[in-house]
Amino acid sequence: SRNFTIDSIPGDGIGVDVTQVAMECVDAAAALHGFTVSWRIRDWNSDLYVKTGRMMPVDGIEQLSSGDGIYLGAVGTPDVPDDVTLWGLLIPIRREFDQYINLRPMKLLPGVTGAMPGIEDLDIVVVRENVEGEYSQIGGRFGAGTDAEFAVQESVFTKAGISRVARYAAEAAAGRGGTLVSATKSNGIIHTMPFWDEVVARTVAQFAGVTVDKVLIDALAARLVMKPTSVRTIVASNLFGDILSDLVAGVAGSIGIAPSANLNPERRYPSMFEPVHGSAPDIAGKGIANPVGALWAASMMLEHLGEVAAARSLTAAFESTLADGIATPDLGGSATTMEFAKEVRDRLR
Ligand code: NAD
Ligand code: IPM
Ligand code: MN
Repeated sequence: SRNFTIDSIPGDGIGVDVTQVAMECVDAAAALHGFTVSWRIRDWNSDLYVKTGRMMPVDGIEQLSSGDGIYLGAVGTPDVPDDVTLWGLLIPIRREFDQYINLRPMKLLPGVTGAMPGIEDLDIVVVRENVEGEYSQIGGRFGAGTDAEFAVQESVFTKAGISRVARYAAEAAAGRGGTLVSATKSNGIIHTMPFWDEVVARTVAQFAGVTVDKVLIDALAARLVMKPTSVRTIVASNLFGDILSDLVAGVAGSIGIAPSANLNPERRYPSMFEPVHGSAPDIAGKGIANPVGALWAASMMLEHLGEVAAARSLTAAFESTLADGIATPDLGGSATTMEFAKEVRDRLR
């Protein structure tokens, strides 16, 4: 019978709470649909860093490469600098496995009214470039301790990197009304963004029926708040896509509901599925984290594995839970993480 090996990295803070309950829901959905998931639980987190000086073992990437996929909670804690935790685990996984697409869908979920009154039908996919751009390792801090102390950060955009994300996004836009909104800042960031615009335009021109709507990132942020239904598919650089995905999730009600798929579309390496949110130290250990982002990400993982029916049941189960008015406090409800997840399991069919 069908079995998948998934490396689960619960991580820190609420990453642990939400992955724990979501894995149970995945197991239940798998049982219903005639397959199994063998979880390899990895204790790769900030505690491990404090104990060993590493976020993951030296051969961590190699260990992950034999699995069918990676399921991550979140990493980050107030006790360890974020550049250590993120560059020690999350970013290397995205890069080593060439997960150059970060797919972040969002829609108005049943029973959720959204942050703004009067929003209907919000349905947006952010296609975020995930391995280059503003997130480069070129730069540094200089002159520590002097009055002339400064920091430099280089952005690196390549033709290959922009065109492959634009291609993926154009395909997504083709099935979603044909307009691809490209987030840019070619009026202000003078070297990289005109180049981004050119490569996006050239790439998308090869797709009949898809047009590029080039929008400056500042105006796009306002438009997403004021007229979110006017945008369906967005292609964005690493940093812009990061910011826009939290913005869109906030408009749709909470960043606790947003999922994320870090994909290597060629399937040469495992892909990674995680909620968009972080470890939320402010609510860690309280048992009230919203597990919807983690559940939705798990559903994207099942779909990626070819278990489309199981993915649909999982999504239907959390949607029907929300539709019945059961929600965690971030959405105005009073359910705990565990109560919400139990309702999801009860609704699986
Ligand atoms: P965050 O996403 O952790 O939290 C922002 C706010 O949203 C907080 O008020 C939090 O309580 C709330 N929130 C987030 N997820 C929620 C959920 N599921 N249910 C209910 N409320 C939720 O962002 P932050 O506070 O800026 O970052 C905290 C830490 O997480 C930092 O160390 C950061 O670097 C890290 N981080 C990690 C990842 C990742 O591992 N993929 C992603 C983002 C941030
Ligand atoms: C995300 C996170 C990460 C990112 C951080 C934690 C490095 O915010 O996955 O959205 O910016 O990619
Ligand atoms: Mn983010």
